[in-house]
Amino acid sequence: MTVRTPTEPSREALALSRALTRRIRERIATMGGWIRFDRYMQSVLNEPGLGYYSAGSAKFGGAGDFITAPALGPFLARAIATQVDGMLGSLDAPVILEIGAGDGTLAAQLLDALDALDAVDAGDTDNTACAANKRRGAPVQYLILEPSADLRSRQRERLARFADRVTWLERLPERPVEGLILANEVVDALPVVRFVKRGDTVLPLGVRYGDDGFEFAEGGRDAELDAAVAALESALGGPLPDGYRSEICLLLGGWMHGLAASLARGALLLVDYGGVRREYYHPERSDGTLICHYRHRAHADPFYLPGLQDVSAWVDFSACADAARGAGFDVAGFTTQGLFLAESIAGAPDPVSLDARSASALKTLVLPGEMGERFRLLLLTRGIRPPGLPGRDLRGWL
Ligand SMILES: C[S@@+](CC[C@H](N)C(=O)[O-])C[C@H]1O[C@@H](n2cnc3c(N)ncnc32)[C@H](O)[C@@H]1O
Repeated sequence: MTVRTPTEPSREALALSRALTRRIRERIATMGGWIRFDRYMQSVLNEPGLGYYSAGSAKFGGAGDFITAPALGPFLARAIATQVDGMLGSLDAPVILEIGAGDGTLAAQLLDALDALDAVDAGDTDNTACAANKRRGAPVQYLILEPSADLRSRQRERLARFADRVTWLERLPERPVEGLILANEVVDALPVVRFVKRGDTVLPLGVRYGDDGFEFAEGGRDAELDAAVAALESALGGPLPDGYRSEICLLLGGWMHGLAASLARGALLLVDYGGVRREYYHPERSDGTLICHYRHRAHADPFYLPGLQDVSAWVDFSACADAARGAGFDVAGFTTQGLFLAESIAGAPDPVSLDARSASALKTLVLPGEMGERFRLLLLTRGIRPPGLPGRDLRGWL
């Protein structure tokens, strides 16, 4: 797919993109002329100093490439806070651990929302950290695991007023925590392996450097991919058709095990876009689910301006649920963002009054044709009585 540049990148941005292209070309040459797609995706997103998330482009909001739910207002944060407040209150030293916190907006909104709930519980309308202290032994501590140094520094600015409550981690906590682990639009950024079916054979669709730059090329058989697609086809109840191309995330199992080992008691909430297995691997979705964003245009070419655009793939929520169960989580809830928000707002004690801008933002979050249907919430718990999720219980879809 050819992408017309909506706005020319700056000279500095193009220089970064060229440097990243050189780095990946060298890597491809070292590997004999071809790399698997997950390796390419890892580099374009996370190559230190050059990748999309690690370099300094705007990324989020109007001046960036895409918006995530927190940019549309505190609706999601408030609904999550209401949902997990009771669970956090029942734990001795609860923390929230956010994975991939972007520019820190969701963290600020959640901390504000929890403080507001604490203030109400304390019979005190003054929304202060002091009010939070009245309800729990101490206000909830907020941990952030953010691989991007650029985003960590933006988060520090955004969260300056919560400086005594936010800690940045270099890696997952070695001593398991109690509380909530939250990842909004992070799983879609985990590198995926792209593949094609050739009769009964599965081949990785990797990347080589050709006359016109990076391009897809089939590689040789890959035992890890063979096993994963065989398991997928068995779960689907039949083989994928000849010529079918798609993606699969081979990192999910290890990722879930790492999170499970870091959580003694509590919940893991994943919010992301994607589908369940039969939606993801629908016979008509025969060219996969890659979605790239550059300056608010979505397209499917992962080779456009390496390092300057976001590259992501749908999340297979059935695979997430399976990986979570394998790691020792219970699957406590699965619903759409639209149903979750609609029911949370309908159940709020005070009627919500919105100005025109907020009402329009809420519509974007809730309406099925916007973010309401494609974005889903998967709630996974460990060692607690599952609190469930507002919204229709769609676990049967998984
Ligand atoms: C699309 S942004 C979402 C940011 C934020 N959660 C939000 O909703 O606005 C993806 C975030 O995940 C981070 N990220 C990407 N890969 C990650 C990984 N493997 N582990 C942890 N965070 C990751 C990025 O640096 C970025 O902060």
